[in-house]
Amino acid sequence: MFYTPEVSDRVYFVGVKDHNRRIFDALIPLPKGTSYNSYLVKGKRNALIDTVNPGFEEELVGRIKEVIEVGELNYVVMNHAEPDHAGAIPYIMKLCDASLIATEKGAEMAMHYYNVPEERVMKVKDGDRLDLGGKTLRFLEAPWLHWPETMFTYLEENRLLFPCDFFGSHTAYGLYDDSEELIPLAKKYFGEIMMPFREMGRRAMERLRELEIEMIAPSHGPIIRNPKRIMEAYRRWTSGETTGKALILYVSMWGSTEAMVKSMASALTSRGAEVNIYNIANSDLGEIAGELVDSRGIVLGTPTVLGGMHPMAAYAVSLIRALRPPVRYGAVLGSYNWGGGGVRQAVEALKAARVEVVGSLEVRGPPSPRDHEKIDELGGLLSKRIMEG
Ligand code: FEO
Repeated sequence: MFYTPEVSDRVYFVGVKDHNRRIFDALIPLPKGTSYNSYLVKGKRNALIDTVNPGFEEELVGRIKEVIEVGELNYVVMNHAEPDHAGAIPYIMKLCDASLIATEKGAEMAMHYYNVPEERVMKVKDGDRLDLGGKTLRFLEAPWLHWPETMFTYLEENRLLFPCDFFGSHTAYGLYDDSEELIPLAKKYFGEIMMPFREMGRRAMERLRELEIEMIAPSHGPIIRNPKRIMEAYRRWTSGETTGKALILYVSMWGSTEAMVKSMASALTSRGAEVNIYNIANSDLGEIAGELVDSRGIVLGTPTVLGGMHPMAAYAVSLIRALRPPVRYGAVLGSYNWGGGGVRQAVEALKAARVEVVGSLEVRGPPSPRDHEKIDELGGLLSKRIMEG
């Protein structure tokens, strides 16, 4: 017996809440687990919108059976080919005669990764409609949100959008977006998953203005009954709007670099900038990704290790390069013992990430009172750029 709520007229949540999962892509921490949302749309003909992660096939089938027999499925819509949504496709396709609906690129992936026979694949193009009898699906190509084959599905009669990963959040808790936690969770998720594709997201947001949307049913996290709130946030995030915030990421071995970044934090906050500070060695990547979404400044603190920046700082910079945040201005601080070099390397790495580095300071051992004065001066320069925008 499964709880299979009707979340909109003849639309049923048949997905799975995964409370136990703690990491995604072997990279993204999931402190609240996640969900693989799948939806059943019941018309004269029936469509399943996305499936679930491998390992949850029987739970998905059990939920569908609360509404119809699996053999009564006529269509399986694959908005996205990543296994967390498409992994149960082979299992489901064996239990019914449904056609698989996907974009041209999605069709190729479905055949390649999930062995769906070509004759069972129905390719759709942007704007195509499918009449289910009383329910009409419209397909909108949305490349790179999150993979090149991705599309959104819009249920016209319900004014309901199924955008798969877009507008998602990683949490196993809450069927609907009633919690105040949604926006912070969605922001972390945006930073981790969507920020590298910000421009494609911005175009999708323009496109969605054509649609009346009363509900958003993403494939991770709660179903959104109040689309205005998340859409306004996505408008800001996809546009790359930043605020007068600086993110300080640092790693310290014997406390000297930590003393320097704390001095910088004081220099920035005393001039009105908002500062968020994370020790890379023990911080949640999701928190950092969330801060990168709208921080205008970044300060990297790294000691020199074996002639270069600390490996944890190198990891942070590689994430910044991969996630492509809209951060504009930066500074680098660090300490060394017998030979420097870490700060110089970090400056080059930040520049390669298209950050304008306004200054840097590398000191031997703990910072002296004069070094703290220099950090304060550098904080003055950085805060000016951050506050001016
Ligand atoms: Fe939730 Fe890109 O898969």
